[in-house]
Amino acid sequence: MSLISVKNLTRVFDVSKPWLNRVIERRAKAFLTAVSDVDFEVEERSTYALVGESGSGKSTIGRMLVGLLTPSSGKVEINGVNLATETDADKVDVIRSDIQMIFQDPFASLNPRWRVRDIIVEPVVARGGDATGLAEKLLVQVGLSALDAGKFPHEFSGGQRQRICIARALSSEPKLIVCDEPTSALDVSVQAQVLNLMSDLKDNFGLTYVLISHDLTVVRHMADRIGVLYLGRLVEEASPEDLFTDTKHPYTKMLLEAAPRMDGFGREADLPEGEIPDPIDPPKGCAFNPRCPIATNICRQERPMMRQLGDIRVACHLAD
Ligand SMILES: Nc1ncnc2c1ncn2[C@@H]1O[C@H](COP(=O)(O)OP(=O)(O)OP(=O)(O)O)[C@@H](O)[C@H]1O
Ligand SMILES: [Mg+2]
Repeated sequence: MSLISVKNLTRVFDVSKPWLNRVIERRAKAFLTAVSDVDFEVEERSTYALVGESGSGKSTIGRMLVGLLTPSSGKVEINGVNLATETDADKVDVIRSDIQMIFQDPFASLNPRWRVRDIIVEPVVARGGDATGLAEKLLVQVGLSALDAGKFPHEFSGGQRQRICIARALSSEPKLIVCDEPTSALDVSVQAQVLNLMSDLKDNFGLTYVLISHDLTVVRHMADRIGVLYLGRLVEEASPEDLFTDTKHPYTKMLLEAAPRMDGFGREADLPEGEIPDPIDPPKGCAFNPRCPIATNICRQERPMMRQLGDIRVACHLAD
């Protein structure tokens, strides 16, 4: 059985102006669909990557996976339990302790007034567990020193702070870690170190990762499956090998062409063409059609359903 099962996951935000403004300006309420009808499964002990441009709904999905946000419709099941509707408090407790999240900004997610030891063991202490010596052990496992336990977060570099965040996420012995852009605030050289550390820990601890990134090259070597999001919809899902060599969706092709950000002279290469449409008023049919080089009439009228082509899933009318 899959560890995570996501079905028809949808999240709508009410982005209306305050009531008085709406009355004066005679405006209707406005809704933004951040995530629309997303389906995917994540096998235990695998890494599933979610990629897409800014605003494509990656973080919103991540927050729904860990139960920080409730779906507007559809569902997330972790080990068969739907956190949003499960009424058995013990079951919810067990699942919650199996899930941790790591965020992009390693400084904002560490309490500056706490010593590193207390930060790391907090998830364990909060559940009344024994944490003697745990922080020191985990610090060594993430490549820091046991002596660092007595220091404060400001005494560390960005990469070291992200290691502390990882140690903290590991302390409650989770099964699943959702990582939202875990390395995008770090230098390129440090990025690789943190990603390597995450790979090693995955094997040692038997972890399952959901890895969120805007950068396909970051997830290429770590992911077992990659899901590509566009405007809140999953448009393609494949193994990294298939995605990079047998790309089906025109949007994924565009992302891949833009991937090596620097050209031979160290200048920034062209970014993906066209603008991301307004998510409050998305284009009819396929949301990508205004930017798509091969769009035809059907693309402007009908939303493409997810289709299975061999081992690849793709939502495009024209993919062969
Ligand atoms: N609490 C909220 N209220 C209203 N709109 C929101 C809220 N959270 C997210 N959104 C909107 O939902 C869409 C998806 O946002 P999300 O943060 O999931 O994107 P993302 O893919 O993580 O982007 P980024 O790469 O910039 O982090 C965006 O259009 C965003 O403005
Ligand atoms: Mg985000």
